[in-house]
This record gives sequence, C-alpha cells and structure tokens, in this order.
Amino acid sequence: VDGTNEKQKGPDLPTELRDELEKLEQQFYVDRKKLKQISERFQQELEEGLQDHGKNIAMYVTWVLGFPTGKEKGDFLTLDLGGTNLRVCWINLRGNEHEIGIKQQSYKMPDSIKTGDASSLWSFIASSLQTFISDHSLNGAFSNPLNLGFTFSYPAIQDYIDQGILQTWTKGFDIKGVEGEDVASQLRSAISDLNLPVSLVAVVNDTTGAMIASSYHDPKTIIGAIFGTGCNAAYMDKISNIPKINSSDEIKKLDPGTPMAINCEYGAFDNARNVLPLTKYDEQIDATSPRPGEQAFEKTSAGLYLGEIFRLIILDLHSRNIIFKDQDISKLQSPYTIDTSLLSNIEDDDTPDLSDSGNEFKATFNITMTQPELQFTRALAKLIAVRGARLCATGIAAICRHQKISSGHVAADGSVANKHPKFKKRWGRALGEILDWSEADREENDESGEGDESQKGPIVLTSAEDGSGVGAAVIAAMTLERWGKGQK
Ligand code: GLC
Repeated sequence: VDGTNEKQKGPDLPTELRDELEKLEQQFYVDRKKLKQISERFQQELEEGLQDHGKNIAMYVTWVLGFPTGKEKGDFLTLDLGGTNLRVCWINLRGNEHEIGIKQQSYKMPDSIKTGDASSLWSFIASSLQTFISDHSLNGAFSNPLNLGFTFSYPAIQDYIDQGILQTWTKGFDIKGVEGEDVASQLRSAISDLNLPVSLVAVVNDTTGAMIASSYHDPKTIIGAIFGTGCNAAYMDKISNIPKINSSDEIKKLDPGTPMAINCEYGAFDNARNVLPLTKYDEQIDATSPRPGEQAFEKTSAGLYLGEIFRLIILDLHSRNIIFKDQDISKLQSPYTIDTSLLSNIEDDDTPDLSDSGNEFKATFNITMTQPELQFTRALAKLIAVRGARLCATGIAAICRHQKISSGHVAADGSVANKHPKFKKRWGRALGEILDWSEADREENDESGEGDESQKGPIVLTSAEDGSGVGAAVIAAMTLERWGKGQK
C-alpha cells in the first residue's frame, strides 16, 4: 500500500551487487512516513515565506493579479532564457482562447554564456531578438513599440511586474554582474543599444507562465509546476494571506481578497538540511556546484541532477571495484555527462537482455556491460527516479494543504514531467500517500509506473500549455489592461 512492495521486487543479482543495491535502497527510498514529515516541514517553510521577507522559501509576489478570462487580446513578443536555448516567439491573442497565432524560433546559446558576464548575456539576447524581428518583418508592421513578455526562470524579487532583481543564479548558471541587479533594466539597455522597437512589459517566472497559460484553457488549473532542469511551482493566493506585503502602497490600493500569483522558489526548500534524506552523493553534488548550500531540494529531484547522482554512484562503485571491472571509464569522468533521458531509456528498455541499454552505454561511454551490470544500473536508475518523483510530490502536497485544495489540475512542464514516462504515476502515488487519498485512488497509481502513463486521483498532473510563449503573452496582455493600455 505504501509502495514498499515495489521496493522488495528486484533483479536477480550476484551477491556483491545485490548487497550494494540494498544499501542504496535504504538510502534512497523515502517511505510514506518520511514523505509526510518532509511535506509538513515544507508547508511551514512556505508559510514562513508568506509572513516575512528573506525566509528560506522566498514566496515571491509576481504582480499577476488573478487568472486570465480567456478574452485577453493583442500581439506580443516573448523571450525565454532556457538552459541551452533562447526561445523567441511572436504570439497573437485574438480574445478567444482557442485561436492563438504563434511564430517561434530558438537560438542556440553558446555554453560560454552560462559562466560568462552580463554584457555577453544581454547582447546575445538583444541580437537574437533583432534577428527575429527582422526575419519575421515585425518592425513597423504592428504596434510600435512591440510589447514583450520576458520569461526569466531564476529567483527574482519583483516590486513591480516589469522588474526582477536576481537574487542568485540556480541550475548551474554563474554569470557575473547580474546577481543583485534588475534583469529588466539590463535587458532594456541592451535593447536600446540596438535601437529595437521593443517595450518590456512583464518579467515572468516559468512556473507562473505555465499556470497562466494552462488556466487560459483549463479553469481547473490550481498550480503551475516545473519538473525539469530545475523544480519549482507557482499558485494563486489572496493578498490578505501574504502579511509580508501589507505595508506596500501598491497593495493598500487593492482589495484584500485580490488574488496574487506567488512564485514559491521552493527549490530552496530545506537549505538548512533538517529533513531531506541526503546521501553522500547529494552532498558531493552540492559541494561541487557553483552555489553550495543553495537549492537543497532542487538538487535531489530536478532533471539537471538525476543523471549526475547516477554517475557519482557508478564512479563510487567502480572505485571499489564492484562494477565495470577492468573497463576504461574515462568517458564517465566528466561532470554532468549523463542526461536524465539515459535514466529513463534504461528503465523503459524492453529489449531482451536490455540490449538497447547495453548498446547505448557502449556507444556513449565505450563501456561493455555484463548482464548483471545492466540489471543493476536499471534498478539504480529507477531508485533515483522514484526518489525524485516522490520528493517532488511533497512540495505540491504542501501547497495543496496550505490552500486547503483537495482537487484540481497541476499544470506541469519540464523534461522530467514530459520525458520520463513513469514520473507522473510515481508522483501521483506519493501525493496520495501524503494527502491520505482513499486506497482506491492511491492504488490507481502504480509506483512501478508500468502500463498506461496517465496519473489518476483527485489532483492530477496535466501537461502545461506553453508557459513561456502563450503564458508570458497573456500576462503581458493582462498587465497592459490593468495599466489601461490594453490592445484592441
Ligand atoms: C529553478 C529556478 C526557478 C525556476 C525553476 C524551474 O528553481 O530558480 O525560478 O522556476 O528552476 O525552471
């Protein structure tokens, strides 16, 4: 019932590997009691973040005041700074949620930018914007200037919707000269250096974008969540529930019942390391990351780190001569070389003798694996993915408890939610364990994640609509409307 049966079924392995797997299972399996304990602490941290500024989970107000009506109108540029690409879109909202025009283009971001300086970042972004505007002949053809929604998915304080003061880089970014600065004004000055006819209207977190884009179509949306390179969620709270902003003049003008989207930034949950079940591999990841001590929760559960946890375990076992004996593992030595997709491929491999996985390891790392090694790595991939999915449920459960929400849709985006086919059921299984769903609802989500991928229960993960395109455009439209500058 608690998913423990799942834990006991395992591959047939030689004693040495079997013993190691058991030890790893003990470290990685998060049982129902522990999940509940983590989720309770999670709720406390969320609520502390609403009370006071500067708490561990930041709970940033986003100035997105309520859900869209579906009638928002206008033409918008949107920008999304992702980990590997910069995506630019031209979105036409026609006042009818079913009719949206989208043109888009991705620009490959040179790796050096991630660890470079502010001016290379912003000039790359502005020049991509310039190329897009000219390729799509937008200059002069539409409103002047063109209104822009900028999805910036890092922790940023917003005193206004068109401002975002970066607090700290996350997800392996380390660009000098941006932390502590307003990303909106840095972007504006790069835009004006190139004389682009663009006006920045809103800075948007990816979670808020996912929630708003999804609610544009689906009124049951309660939360926007990203389970991808990073992990985080946004939800809608009443401003009377956010004591820390009581004294703001902007807030005093609003009715206390006004809804406000909150970007939780809960990747930082338990940075004090009180409750998360951290292993020595998690400690290693943290210690070698650009920001040790930060994003403790994210480092256990987000896509950027799952493959890295796997790699560190394999290296550890190899150094103790337990796995890949006498093989050259030099290709496994470089950090972050294993993508989450490799983990899901091993788990999904239904070829006899796991030959697809064997071939993938051979091709990628030049390692020839024995049958027991293949079975072992498959079990290991599963252990790491199950822990990630179960931990991911603790944050959403905490928001639901805080909001006293017992049903609805969690609009999810990100590589883990979308590309790891077993994630949804495992997540749903854990959510039901934390929220005490009926046994029937819990049983619907089998932790092995086999068969039909859809997750069941009163709270369901749905695939988010395009948050950084449509979501950012809808938010920009809502903002212009609020400023009395809505487009017709
Ligand atoms: C990291 C960022 C956060 C973002 C999340 C998902 O946690 O700090 O802003 O929402 O990744 O991309």
